[in-house]
Amino acid sequence: NITSVIMAGGTGSRLWPMSRALHPKQFLKLTSSYSMLQETVNRTLPFTHSNIVICNEDHRFLAAEQLREIGQLQQIILEPVGRNTAPAIALAAFQLQKQDKDAMMLVLAADHVIKDTAAFEQSVKQATVAAQQGKMVTFGIVPTHAETGYGYIKRGDNSFDGFTVSQFVEKPNLETAQQYLDSGDYYWNSGMFLFKASQYLDELKLFRPDIYQACEAAMADVSADLDFVRINQQQFEQCPSESIDYAVMEKTANAVVIPLDAQWSDVGAWSALWDISNKDQNNNVLQGDVLTHNSTNSYFNAEHKLIAAVGVDNIVVIETKDAVLVAHKDNVQDVKAIVEQLKASN
Ligand code: GDD
Ligand code: MG
Repeated sequence: NITSVIMAGGTGSRLWPMSRALHPKQFLKLTSSYSMLQETVNRTLPFTHSNIVICNEDHRFLAAEQLREIGQLQQIILEPVGRNTAPAIALAAFQLQKQDKDAMMLVLAADHVIKDTAAFEQSVKQATVAAQQGKMVTFGIVPTHAETGYGYIKRGDNSFDGFTVSQFVEKPNLETAQQYLDSGDYYWNSGMFLFKASQYLDELKLFRPDIYQACEAAMADVSADLDFVRINQQQFEQCPSESIDYAVMEKTANAVVIPLDAQWSDVGAWSALWDISNKDQNNNVLQGDVLTHNSTNSYFNAEHKLIAAVGVDNIVVIETKDAVLVAHKDNVQDVKAIVEQLKASN
């Protein structure tokens, strides 16, 4: 009995100007006629029996409406403030434990693309035996380049249907990432996990008792209205901000990695969307009203106006009602710098 726990509290600032504070990327229909959140829930339906979504209070109606649309509105835990993923997962773990003390949670990000859902289901099934025995399972992707935005997992001995984790390093620098890639001994951390709620809480209590206590206190006093679970704001504001990767996965002695070969992609920036989208004969992605001449390797998205491109290569142009982004495709990780500037000037 696995529950999908879907983390949907990110800001998606590198996908500005489509992704906005009030409408971040996980709620956008970026890759199909379903939003990233809906896609995430839909792909787990064959093998999970319920879901919990955790998101910011500001997005409660957006989340509820999208889940209702696909007939999957169950429980939504609302965070009054963002404290990153370690606390978010703890809230879900406490909530699940109230309902079933042996609850098993499949922790998912709301903004990943997985094209081969059958392979994904297979890896989750393989992970279940390990997780039932108290392992903290992560899903490992064979790396294709020295990405610094991911966690790296060094494979140890064979264990269950995967490997023990001899080292977990969250977001190494470029030089280190390159060494890991060259060695062939590392996987990327997909940012998805399978474990028992009780195991996660035990590990969190051991490594980060401060986060554990703040979340426990925030959950001691919940109120439910409609499908929303509201937690104690004052207590949660006291909680330190940390990701599960730093708080638990780098430290646990119980990590197991199960390989995942399912055409997984983290849709972090416009270049990643270019990677996974259908392209024309010049390697351009054309969304909306776009005309090109002698232009190559670019991503164009026109929402309201015609975009015309002549003689350009490797760029990104995103046109929305009130903002236009023009960027070199190699620099799109820095789009968040613009969002920072906008925040500072508001
Ligand atoms: N509810 C909630 N609250 N969700 C959150 C919060 C929060 O405060 N912060 C982030 N999330 C959600 C995001 O929406 C996303 O779905 C997921 O948690 C992961 O957060 P990211 O901020 O996207 O993490 P990352 O991409 O930098 O790194 C993680 O994912 C990589 C793979 O995509 C790590 O797990 C890396 O190790 C991993 O390689
Ligand atoms: Mg991410």
